[in-house]
Amino acid sequence: MGKASYETVDFGVTKYGEKARKFILKGAGGVILEASDYGGKIVRLFTPDAKGELKDVVVGFDSPAGWDNGDPYWGCIIGRYGNRIAAGKFTLDGVEYKLPALNNAPGGIGCNLHGGARGWDAYVWDAEPFVEGDDVGIVFRHVSPDGDEGFPGKVEAKVTYTLTSANVWRVDYEATVDKATPVNMTQHVYFNFKGESGGTIEDHVLTIAASQVTPTDKGQIPTGEIAKVEGTPFDFRKGMRIGERINEANGQLEIGKGYDHNWVLDEGVMAGGKGGLVFAGALECPLNGRKLEVWTTEPCLQVYTANWASYDQRAKGGEHLSFRCGIALETQHAPDSPNKPQWPTTIVRPGETYRTTTEFRFGNA
Ligand code: BGC
Repeated sequence: MGKASYETVDFGVTKYGEKARKFILKGAGGVILEASDYGGKIVRLFTPDAKGELKDVVVGFDSPAGWDNGDPYWGCIIGRYGNRIAAGKFTLDGVEYKLPALNNAPGGIGCNLHGGARGWDAYVWDAEPFVEGDDVGIVFRHVSPDGDEGFPGKVEAKVTYTLTSANVWRVDYEATVDKATPVNMTQHVYFNFKGESGGTIEDHVLTIAASQVTPTDKGQIPTGEIAKVEGTPFDFRKGMRIGERINEANGQLEIGKGYDHNWVLDEGVMAGGKGGLVFAGALECPLNGRKLEVWTTEPCLQVYTANWASYDQRAKGGEHLSFRCGIALETQHAPDSPNKPQWPTTIVRPGETYRTTTEFRFGNA
């Protein structure tokens, strides 16, 4: 086993004029994680294949400009509310709040996506790297003021990345508020176990520990229905090649241009499960044996196969990103929860601490 260590380097300036840094975390188990204080963005992540050979398996860019000139969400921390809020509106304790509704799928009426025009991904966070025994990590902190992007209340957020000697990348989220407000944080890393320029992830085998999904309307807002996956292209309870059914004639797949949906985890609280840290799913590339398990305390998993990405963006190697070049496994509460009172709440109130954990456990087949 190696020794956990880190290095800090400059990462350029963001379009908002903030100076960014990058931290290169070397895990004692071999996995290497490069992350910036610019929204916690994952720049590189090296994991072992079946022979133990390391390769960078995430989509990312060499400088803040890579994110700033296109889809900004590759590999970043999302807040204050990950995923969609219908029409950018919700009512809380009798007051209606209006948020930017800039995102829209064809046929939709617009929605708030990933926190708004400038979400938490677009700020340089306070960042403190650390080594603690065999663990190496970074503590990120960000304060979002009352009224930020239309949301009520100040939020003090803390996100900790920890890379363990067992090749687990753990993400611990915490937030406290001074007024009731929705919080739904996630990590938007995209994996491609062949490397970011390795083409589509359709040959990867995906497992999702969920018997149910939340179907959406044309604007990708959950209709409120919770549907069984059985007998549909959404059944990944047994590992299945992503490309196997992704192009089938199916109304939901047409809306998302592929997979861009929220699964309700069987062991999570939304499905009536016990909750705690539960198995959410796994991803494996049969060509090289790279493997990942996702474990989370969140009730849901949004799986997005990069169907809408802006392919004029150039990845680290300088090549254009391609259709379905990565897959995001976003642990979270269900989309549009502030407008779905029947679902587990995302509202955090003063005196409470929002706390969730997600683990990306890397290994090989
Ligand atoms: C959403 C996609 C969106 C993407 C943006 C995903 O979480 O589900 O619809 O296009 O984020 O990067």
